[in-house]
Amino acid sequence: MKKTALITGACINTGVAIVEKFASEGYDVVFTGRSQDGVAEAEQRYKAKFPNTNIIGYAINSLLDERTVDEAAVDALFSFLDEKGIFIETLVCNAADQGLNMKVFENPLTDFMRVINTNVVWNYCLSEHAAKRMKENGGGSIIFVNSNTAYRSIPDRIAYTASKGGQLGMMRGLALDLGKYNIRVNAVLPGMIKTDRWEKNPEFYAKVPSRYTPLGDVAVGEDIADAVWYFAAMARNTTGAELVVDGGNTCQLYPVLPKGYTVD
Ligand SMILES: NC(=O)c1ccc[n+]([C@@H]2O[C@H](COP(=O)([O-])OP(=O)(O)OC[C@H]3O[C@@H](n4cnc5c(N)ncnc54)[C@H](OP(=O)(O)O)[C@@H]3O)[C@@H](O)[C@H]2O)c1
Repeated sequence: MKKTALITGACINTGVAIVEKFASEGYDVVFTGRSQDGVAEAEQRYKAKFPNTNIIGYAINSLLDERTVDEAAVDALFSFLDEKGIFIETLVCNAADQGLNMKVFENPLTDFMRVINTNVVWNYCLSEHAAKRMKENGGGSIIFVNSNTAYRSIPDRIAYTASKGGQLGMMRGLALDLGKYNIRVNAVLPGMIKTDRWEKNPEFYAKVPSRYTPLGDVAVGEDIADAVWYFAAMARNTTGAELVVDGGNTCQLYPVLPKGYTVD
């Protein structure tokens, strides 16, 4: 019988590559986005590309407001899947609040809460719901698309950095407590990935220091999807592990910038 993966935040960017990887490897896929329209559009695209795969899009937002995770929406998602007889064998927590441009003395505390609530608390809620069913079905795999900012911070991203560090701690705790149910929990830590933001701000990305890695470039979505797939399908004896996919960015003390490089 075909296995099913639930992949969050998969109407755009990295999530698309992850959906396409699982679909092309023979999984059925349930994916999420926040807007009904975005989800419907993506579902149509995926179905055209993978006519033999059962692909279901589901619109869900993490929060009711900055302080409150929408736990009922997670309940509703898993009840919907239960009613359809769909068992999520692999959960990929890819969606994230990027927490961009948050200034330490300017942003209200609720902005910090919003990022932590989505990236840590909501993902805990999803994991708990998925793990309950995995336990009943003999096991499964949970994979967090984390970030190398869990190790090293970047400017104006305190909440995001804290959320990814917290998410890594949560990953280890879940791995420890769920191993006895044959549930593996791991994290992929990308550095910078080419996304639509790259296309929208070419000048920024042309000079962004994190592209100057030992391997000389940033990742594309497929690089991250391959790492996620490794944990899902090949890492039978691996749990609580981190796989960094950042071109070697975090192994260097500073980026080796080209001659004449200036930051405006
Ligand atoms: N891009 C990078 O350079 C980079 C670097 C390191 C790590 N990462 C990590 O890699 C993953 C994917 O990154 P990405 O840049 O491809 O992501 P992205 O373009 O920011 O897309 C994130 C997805 O998450 C969903 N999302 C955002 N806020 C949400 C919320 N409050 N509730 C529910 N869903 C929400 C979005 O839904 P909508 O489609 O409805 O907008 C979108 O589909 C993230 O976990 C990110 O932290 C990215």
